[in-house]
Amino acid sequence: MLDALQKGDLSLQGQFLQGSNYTFLAQVDCEDHKYPVVYKPTRGEQPLWDFPTGTLAKREVVAFKISEALGWDLVPPTVYRRVGPLGPGSVQLYIEHDATYHYFNFEAADKLRLRPVILFDCLVNNADRKASHVLVDSSDHIWLIDHGLCFHTEDKLRTVIWDYAGDPIPEPLREDVRLLSARMRLGSSLALDLAPLLKEEEILAMRKRAIHLVETGCFPMPPTDRRVYPWPPV
Ligand SMILES: Nc1ncnc2c1ncn2[C@@H]1O[C@H](COP(=O)(O)OP(=O)(O)OP(=O)(O)O)[C@@H](O)[C@H]1O
Ligand SMILES: [Mg+2]
Repeated sequence: MLDALQKGDLSLQGQFLQGSNYTFLAQVDCEDHKYPVVYKPTRGEQPLWDFPTGTLAKREVVAFKISEALGWDLVPPTVYRRVGPLGPGSVQLYIEHDATYHYFNFEAADKLRLRPVILFDCLVNNADRKASHVLVDSSDHIWLIDHGLCFHTEDKLRTVIWDYAGDPIPEPLREDVRLLSARMRLGSSLALDLAPLLKEEEILAMRKRAIHLVETGCFPMPPTDRRVYPWPPV
């Protein structure tokens, strides 16, 4: 799948008009397989005051790699392509889903499945977890999308999901985070894999967040000295 997303023919199909950046529905054709994908060209990124220009697509890819490293399968397969119809950008598998079903109207059973989602957002320091960016597909799998505003060195967690704040992190999840922190030492294969995509201080900051989560052993409380919700929230 990753090979296909990386090397297949990429053709534009349409454009998502709601987002703040230029985001396209596209198709990847590779060896008789066709994959619907979301293509976010770097050139279409809206400049921001707090994130370096032209880095959002790379952050999308790092989010996928961290989801894989944790073994949590939360982020759809995502690659960074140097060549595409509108230049370099991220290419992510498109997930078929019911767009009217999101965090604000999730059933109780789905809310109970959000613990890894919350920990993931803490780890990646997600500054923009909107309700509609948690998708449930037809097999009932939970997927997370839109990770352009992650991995800042300063604490920027902004999310609509503050469930479980102050509760203990279940031990198996805590152990996964501990293993991730150990695998993220500078010079490790994971750190080397992330090096072309993030600054060294951003990788170090993520490792620090992982260690902090393991040491406190609790889901974070919303800080009171800054805004903790994204806008718009859906
Ligand atoms: N992998 C995916 N599968 C299905 N739909 C997706 C996927 N990625 C993005 N989308 C759709 O494309 C829209 C725009 O993508 P995204 O939210 O990532 O871009 P954005 O420019 O950061 O937007 P926003 O300003 O809403 O944060 C999403 O709201 C969603 O409807
Ligand atoms: Mg966004």
